[in-house]
Amino acid sequence: MGITKSKGNIFSIVSGDMQYALCAGPGGAAHLHWGAVSPAEDFEEPPLREENSNHAPLDFIKTEYIPYGGTMYREYALKCSFSNGCRETALEFSGAQINGGTLEITLEDKSCGLEVRLIYTCRESCSIIERRAVIKNLSGRDILIEKAASAELHLPGEEEYEITNANGSWGAEFRQSRQTLKSGELVFESRKGTTAHHHMPALIASRGAGEESGEVFFAVLGWGGSWKLSVSRDFAGRTSAVLGINDRDFSYTLKSGEEFETPPVYLGRARGFGDMSRRLNELALRHILPRRFAYEALPVLYNSWEATGFGVNEAQQLKLAKRAAEIGCELFVMDDGWFSTRNSDKSGLGDWDVSKIKFPRGLKPLIDGVKALGMEFGIWVEPEMVNPKSRLYKEHPDWTYHYDCRTPSLLRSQLVLNLTKPEVQKYIFDFMDKLLCENDIRYIKWDMNRPFSETGAENLKNPRELWYRHTKAVFKIVDELRKKHPDVQFEACASGGGRTDLGSLSHFDMVWPSDNTDPLDRLEIQRGYSLLYPQKCMRAWVTDTNSEARPVSAAYRFAVSMQGALAVGSDLSKLSRSELAQYKKHIALYKKIRHIVQFGRRYRVLAPPSGKIYLNGFVSPNGDEAVYFACTAANSFFEDRFVTLRFDGLDENAVYEVKSEHRHFKKSGAYLMNRGIDVVYYKPLESEIFIFKRIK
Ligand code: DGJ
Repeated sequence: MGITKSKGNIFSIVSGDMQYALCAGPGGAAHLHWGAVSPAEDFEEPPLREENSNHAPLDFIKTEYIPYGGTMYREYALKCSFSNGCRETALEFSGAQINGGTLEITLEDKSCGLEVRLIYTCRESCSIIERRAVIKNLSGRDILIEKAASAELHLPGEEEYEITNANGSWGAEFRQSRQTLKSGELVFESRKGTTAHHHMPALIASRGAGEESGEVFFAVLGWGGSWKLSVSRDFAGRTSAVLGINDRDFSYTLKSGEEFETPPVYLGRARGFGDMSRRLNELALRHILPRRFAYEALPVLYNSWEATGFGVNEAQQLKLAKRAAEIGCELFVMDDGWFSTRNSDKSGLGDWDVSKIKFPRGLKPLIDGVKALGMEFGIWVEPEMVNPKSRLYKEHPDWTYHYDCRTPSLLRSQLVLNLTKPEVQKYIFDFMDKLLCENDIRYIKWDMNRPFSETGAENLKNPRELWYRHTKAVFKIVDELRKKHPDVQFEACASGGGRTDLGSLSHFDMVWPSDNTDPLDRLEIQRGYSLLYPQKCMRAWVTDTNSEARPVSAAYRFAVSMQGALAVGSDLSKLSRSELAQYKKHIALYKKIRHIVQFGRRYRVLAPPSGKIYLNGFVSPNGDEAVYFACTAANSFFEDRFVTLRFDGLDENAVYEVKSEHRHFKKSGAYLMNRGIDVVYYKPLESEIFIFKRIK
């Protein structure tokens, strides 16, 4: 158990039910195992294969962190250029330290003065290992890092693996995909400056696994900027991957004595995708989320965006707030439009003074009004951006990423501020600090609505560092604000799910996973999101989106949004009394079950196309309570109506009392899990919420 060293320099790391083994020696560090646990003393150094004119020994060795150079032709984890003109790195083992649950392997390129420390930390309770690399310059001169991945990874055996991810785009995030990697390379990445909407920064590899069966290997990057996963299958059938910050246009000048630390990768092995998600959920709660709110149930919030857009003002926000309070919301968030000349997306970003026209008396009367209604107040900001139509841009046109010889590309009429400049960081910290000091604000929705372009940063000796430095600066500002204002919650948003990752979630308390709030689309988005990310952090608004094209009952919309951190975004001023009463009833129900949803173990039992309906459940950690959400999709009138619901994750020795809108029964956990109940759902977009209580 734990971390052991045997037979020279063979290291075994056992984290819960997973073992990871490696061997250090003259050629650096070789990978030995990632899988189930065996006795540490049985591991052997990998044999050196004969070389021939086309295969060097390195082709046959699985390495832990291979640098570019020599006879190594696969994807590398590290590439450096040295001041002597050498562009290759050669790492030798120089020492190891075991410190409780952490193993540190030190590798050195003595002739070029470079040290690399590979750090492995056991997260025992979730059977996960957190990996990172720290690169240090011992050369007395600058070293240019051109690539520094967080981890190189090797999957066991030579069979084909299926690679799962959740791919998409704006408004269509997190749509699960699975493909078999037969040969060559598969790349998932973000080149945009943020995590972006297109893929999840993670390797998920399996062979014939299901939700609750089969072996799944996963490695998830904790980084909120551009990233890259290259996974490849070689001539011998071995599948390996390199995962970390994207090396596209990236480099970093490491001064003598300085260190560069890569973001972490969380790697694990699970029995099925459901087990993977539950382990990662637990990891996020225990080790990743900012501590202050990690174990606090998140409030039901109201957000004004879909109701009032940019046209906010005191009277109308207060009117919404009154209704939000009546239906049971606990926090009122005023979204975009409250500052400067912000009447559309064409102007105002960067000038963070309260609009005198919309709020002639400042924000205080609105905040006081919201508080008097028994809610906390939150507000939207987009600190990393500027509209050219702003005072800030007029005064500091050089505060954006730009090249003097290029016309800046406007997207949503805005430009990205150069956060690598200390004066820009200070500007952002100061306006946010002032906003939080002057107003009783308990919630910040931090948005980011466009990718980087024309990435000139004349302030940096090496402008290619900006990809890394920008994300670090965002995290630093948020951390400093949190330190000074510890009771404020932070939500990360980037045009929906563009900044959803375990790196951002170590600074922000939650994310806004998509601008698409159509409930049926959302079920798919939530399913993909839930593969890797904690359900508690998933803000989910009930809105009126698409209500004309596809009317959906409030019950259904709530049944979808209750599967995360419930929120409301409907225009409450347009709802009838009876509709408001329904909202109130659903919110009251959510408050009774939210501890199970936000902190329970999540089960994705059914989902189309293989399942007839969506059936997702949450079981409290002790198995005493559970809640299951059944949502039909667009089922036809053929046999799709007849569904057997089996409820995973219950205690089979317990007896549960189960209540829903349509049913009330008592059954054993074993029966509910193994046999299940037969139901008939006649209508498309119909929902049922089952609440389980252990009675024996
Ligand atoms: C994009 C976000 O995803 C929306 O929720 C909203 O905050 C708008 N920006 C406001 O401009």
